[in-house]
Amino acid sequence: MKLPIHVAIVMDGNGRWARERGKNRIFGHKKGVESVRKIIKHSSNLNIKYLTLFSFSTENWNRPKREVDALMKLFVQLLAKEIPELYKNNVKVIFTGRKTRLSRDLLDKMENAEQVTKHNTGLTLVFAFDYGGRQEIIDTCIEICKKLKSQQLDFLDTEEFSKHLYLPQIPDPDLIIRTSGEFRFSNFLLWEAAYSELYFSDVLWPDYDENEFDKALKNYAERERRFGKVK
Ligand code: IPE
Ligand code: MG
Repeated sequence: MKLPIHVAIVMDGNGRWARERGKNRIFGHKKGVESVRKIIKHSSNLNIKYLTLFSFSTENWNRPKREVDALMKLFVQLLAKEIPELYKNNVKVIFTGRKTRLSRDLLDKMENAEQVTKHNTGLTLVFAFDYGGRQEIIDTCIEICKKLKSQQLDFLDTEEFSKHLYLPQIPDPDLIIRTSGEFRFSNFLLWEAAYSELYFSDVLWPDYDENEFDKALKNYAERERRFGKVK
């Protein structure tokens, strides 16, 4: 089966999952962490090279403070707890997004996760945290203006532009999955998604599992990618 090299996921539906059970939204986020664990393990077992998980967007700050605090805490806990297991499974952990608004505690956990796993050669796991696609494009433009001379700007093309993104070493996602039956990008990987294949699942993220993921992979394997050319 033709496997994607890079899979990116918009993990959506935690709040609705909890509400359906008469619980508060945070309960859904906690349950969602179990799906995160499952999908990382499964991707690693399948020898997928890159997995990007949209964990917190630049717009998620606008949620009630209680929910933002809970999401931050869950992420700190995940990083504190899961690193030994990820290390053991040869997973390399990295992050994409802005670092300026995160707590010292979270930044320390992120740095530690990157440091501990940096020599691993299996799955590269990218957490998109305080990530926004538009912000990334702006930050990339700023980088380019700082680094390139104005004569060089005349020759700026998409290839050169890509070299200044947050993670230039990571190939564009081949497959983007969104759960919970929503059909939106919500500001995820806007530049990188130019030729990604899209797959939408109705399953709410806390119910998402290996089987649902396999359905997306099977569907991807059957697609013909032409990148604007003719076959
Ligand atoms: C996704 O679930 C988790 C994050 C954005 C962190 P939501 O919180 O968006 O859940 P719904 O969409 O309200 O059900
Ligand atoms: Mg949502």
